[in-house]
Amino acid sequence: MDIQDIVNLDLYPVTDPEAPARAELIAQCRTDLQDKLYCTLPNFVTTSALAVMAAEATHLQSMAYHNNALRNCYLHRQLDPTLSDDHPRNLQDRSSTRMIAYDQIPETSPLRTFYHHNAVRSLVAGIVGEGELFDNEDPYQPANYVCYQDSDESSWHFDADNSFTMTLMIQPALQGGEFEMSPHTRTDTDQNYDHVARVLRGERNDTVLSVGREPGALCLFRGCNSLHRVTPVGGDTLRIMGVFVYEFRAGVKGDPEVNATIYGPRVMVRV
Ligand SMILES: [Fe+2]
Repeated sequence: MDIQDIVNLDLYPVTDPEAPARAELIAQCRTDLQDKLYCTLPNFVTTSALAVMAAEATHLQSMAYHNNALRNCYLHRQLDPTLSDDHPRNLQDRSSTRMIAYDQIPETSPLRTFYHHNAVRSLVAGIVGEGELFDNEDPYQPANYVCYQDSDESSWHFDADNSFTMTLMIQPALQGGEFEMSPHTRTDTDQNYDHVARVLRGERNDTVLSVGREPGALCLFRGCNSLHRVTPVGGDTLRIMGVFVYEFRAGVKGDPEVNATIYGPRVMVRV
């Protein structure tokens, strides 16, 4: 598939750098990302491309790495005995996801075409306020399918670094599987533990938003200071997300040890 078959160019004229609608879109998304720490572009990808992606991920799911673990919202699996049991660092929850790595996705996949296209990369660069972005050059990380089967979930967490995350909703779950976020839960200088604990205990649902549920929605967010999660999935429909990694400089690859935790023992480097 070519880019015109993948992106809804009528709604989003991203292949025309001179289009006023493109500049307006970038300005609006940039403001949203700055103010709310996320932005969404509904119906960004066509239903025909989504159908191909969904069929691909469904076909590949037996090869996916099932990551199933208890963790706290700081992505740590170890408890801290110096803190109380109800401290956010000692509140653990389950995360169960199935990851299909870049190397497992066919070269002709519309997911890869989408990720590598200049029009998409430069649009994202404009939204995140970078002059230029670069493809990630890791064998596994650049573009992934993340799948959730019945009862899978990703519990509340902060992302580890302060760049941005880019996701595409390909196929929502029948029930649940909401992507929820509590924007500005903490700041760069204040861990805000009391508030974090209240969000984790479900006492601040007034701050929680559900984002980008519809198929084809592209979402960019900064997850470092906003708690976010995927609620438990119900039903037999596989929940499928595309996840993409762009870099601020050329030639970036992932850490092999981190990759092994995300993609499983098969990616372990043997020396
Ligand atoms: Fe995250």
